[in-house]
Amino acid sequence: MMEQSTAGRSRATGAGRRSPRGKTRLFVAMLGLALLCWGGSAIAADPSKGRQIYMKHCQNCHGINGAGQMPGVPDFSRGEALFKPDIELVRRIRSGQGMMPAYEGMFTEEDLLDVVAFLRTLR
Ligand code: HEC
Repeated sequence: MMEQSTAGRSRATGAGRRSPRGKTRLFVAMLGLALLCWGGSAIAADPSKGRQIYMKHCQNCHGINGAGQMPGVPDFSRGEALFKPDIELVRRIRSGQGMMPAYEGMFTEEDLLDVVAFLRTLR
């Protein structure tokens, strides 16, 4: 009688402890996996890195806030030219357009995706 109730209590306590800890561990594992996927993804462009490149190489023509500094420059603050997909903009920055010099070889694809991500914040 005595033995039985002790066994029942300890089993109940054990189960009560094990269950939430198992859930927490699963949650942490899933969070870690999610962060790993997100951090390792090539499409996780960094607009703050892009901003540094833009301020050094692009703002003298395109303007600090993206409004062009001379005729014929698209106004990024109004979303001009930004309806194209990222990869298409990267290609155009690489090859140059009209008055804009070609940046082929100067930046990595990742750099340019960062810049494009920054351009999209100007709107
Ligand atoms: C010498 C001035 C100048 C510099 C420097 C410059 N651009 Fe441009 N950019 C232009 C002009 C002019 C156009 C419009 C070209 C056209 O449509 O003929 C343009 C167009 C663009 C477009 C739109 C392309 C399209 O086809 O829609 C993007 C995106 C762009 N520039 C990004 C950049 C980035 C990023 C940098 C810096 C790495 C940069 N530009 C540096 C002058 C410049």
